[in-house]
Amino acid sequence: MTEGLKLRDIDAQRPQEFLRCAEIASESEIGKRYGFSAAGLAAKMKAGVEAGAMVIVAETEGDEGLIDAGHIKGFAWVDPKGAFGSSPYLKLIAVDPSLRGSGAGTILLAEFERRTASIGRVWTLLVSDFNDKAAVFYQRHGYERAGFLPDFAIQGVGEILMLKRRGNDGG
Ligand SMILES: CC(C)(COP(=O)(O)OP(=O)(O)OC[C@H]1O[C@@H](n2cnc3c(N)ncnc32)[C@H](O)[C@@H]1OP(=O)(O)O)[C@@H](O)C(=O)NCCC(=O)NCCS
Repeated sequence: MTEGLKLRDIDAQRPQEFLRCAEIASESEIGKRYGFSAAGLAAKMKAGVEAGAMVIVAETEGDEGLIDAGHIKGFAWVDPKGAFGSSPYLKLIAVDPSLRGSGAGTILLAEFERRTASIGRVWTLLVSDFNDKAAVFYQRHGYERAGFLPDFAIQGVGEILMLKRRGNDGG
């Protein structure tokens, strides 16, 4: 199902690409729960890229250049040393609902790991305690629970710290 998708870095000169990614995230369950605004999230992503983060986008081939960036179907926002200044941190990943369950998240996660394989000793991410589906997705790909941060981003929601050691491909 992912044959028609290709990965690339976000085009930092095209604000509509940040907005499109931010819309995908803000319309998801986590976006609703955290009350992300698409414009606010887009601005944070852009500032992150300017400070050295990567936003990898998955887009449908053949539709490149659409003004509204609607060809972008998912993204991974990566801070290469975001965990304690030493290990790669997957800050946010989201896939358009029309494509969920078809492998787009898997290829974005693999690209995060490929791009940061020489940094630190583990890959890291946080998953909200209500987001069971995402936690299962990460476990399947070799991530293990390593800690719990109560009330970390918002009051009443805990964040599960997950780590993946090099060479652990799950299963
Ligand atoms: C988590 C997410 C990025 C995975 O991307 P994806 O393209 O659906 O993932 P894949 O197709 O590669 O893998 C599918 C697996 O993801 C998991 N999954 C997580 N959330 C899912 C969802 N909302 N719908 C379908 N599958 C989901 C399931 O375990 C699924 O396994 P299954 O196909 O055997 O049921 C995506 O579902 C998403 O955007 N969720 C909303 C945003 C979010 O919660 N991001 C994580 C923040 S920590």
